[in-house]
Amino acid sequence: MSKTILITGSTDGIGLDAATLLAAQGHKILLHGRNQRRLEAAAARLREESPNCSPEAYLADLSAPEEVENLAAAVTRDHTRLDALINNAGVLKGPDPSTRHGWDLRLLVNTIAPYLLTRRLLPSMDHAGRVINVASAAQEPVDLQALQHPGTLSDMSAYAQSKLALIMWTFHLARTLGEGAPAFIAVNPGSLLGTKMVREGFGLAGKDVRIGGDILARLATEEAFSSVSGQYSDNDVGDFGSPHPDALDPERCRMLTEALDVIVAQLT
Ligand SMILES: NC(=O)c1ccc[n+]([C@@H]2O[C@H](COP(=O)([O-])OP(=O)(O)OC[C@H]3O[C@@H](n4cnc5c(N)ncnc54)[C@H](OP(=O)(O)O)[C@@H]3O)[C@@H](O)[C@H]2O)c1
Repeated sequence: MSKTILITGSTDGIGLDAATLLAAQGHKILLHGRNQRRLEAAAARLREESPNCSPEAYLADLSAPEEVENLAAAVTRDHTRLDALINNAGVLKGPDPSTRHGWDLRLLVNTIAPYLLTRRLLPSMDHAGRVINVASAAQEPVDLQALQHPGTLSDMSAYAQSKLALIMWTFHLARTLGEGAPAFIAVNPGSLLGTKMVREGFGLAGKDVRIGGDILARLATEEAFSSVSGQYSDNDVGDFGSPHPDALDPERCRMLTEALDVIVAQLT
């Protein structure tokens, strides 16, 4: 059955690959990007590869919480039901580690934006829905104070902290939202896949992007994963596994998520 699937950061890399795969399977794809030209190119690529598909495109810069709110409002306006949300957009480094709100770019794009978007879209999702949060093997204990002062952490530390925070709120929502809520799965799509992030960040050609696109598409749609929630899929080992121990501590996850609620309240 065709599902309606929103994939953030689907103008390039793993997100675009997953979108292409899912469109070819007959699903309704809601593309998202921060650049209109790249969004149109992504939609054109889907139509070219799957002539029967009719992707929709949403523009939002996820480093700006008001644009995240607008994205959620637009998706809710256009669709009464969402089957899957793939929070894939992410950033390792940029010309400036700071956003105009004064917070670290990685915290805003990789942790806060997917949290806010998920919270806003939850009313459109039921127990059969899935939230797939794209994390990474790079995970470091989260220091929200440091992330409030961009430039104090290396790009890699800020990235690794933002990704562990993403896993921690994923697990907290899975644990606390109750039976009517969608399933929440965090996933490391595979390390050093050949995307812009890896080419620009590490100067490497990287591995086949399809490794990442395939696991996102499968987690979002396959029946085998319908009862999986609050778990971490580690595509470097091809199975569910254990993330950083901080994510396995419910109290730490609760405190981190409550701190994110405070930040979101300040920013919106
Ligand atoms: N590649 C890997 O080996 C690897 C490993 C582990 C985890 N990941 C994760 O996989 C996800 C996808 O990354 P990728 O490797 O496919 O990188 P990518 O090719 O750089 O794609 C990142 C996507 O996110 C979008 N994006 C970045 N900043 C944004 C912002 N402020 N607002 C809206 N959209 C934004 C990009 O838009 P533009 O097209 O406009 O740049 C692009 O569509 C990320 O969460 C990343 O952390 C990747």
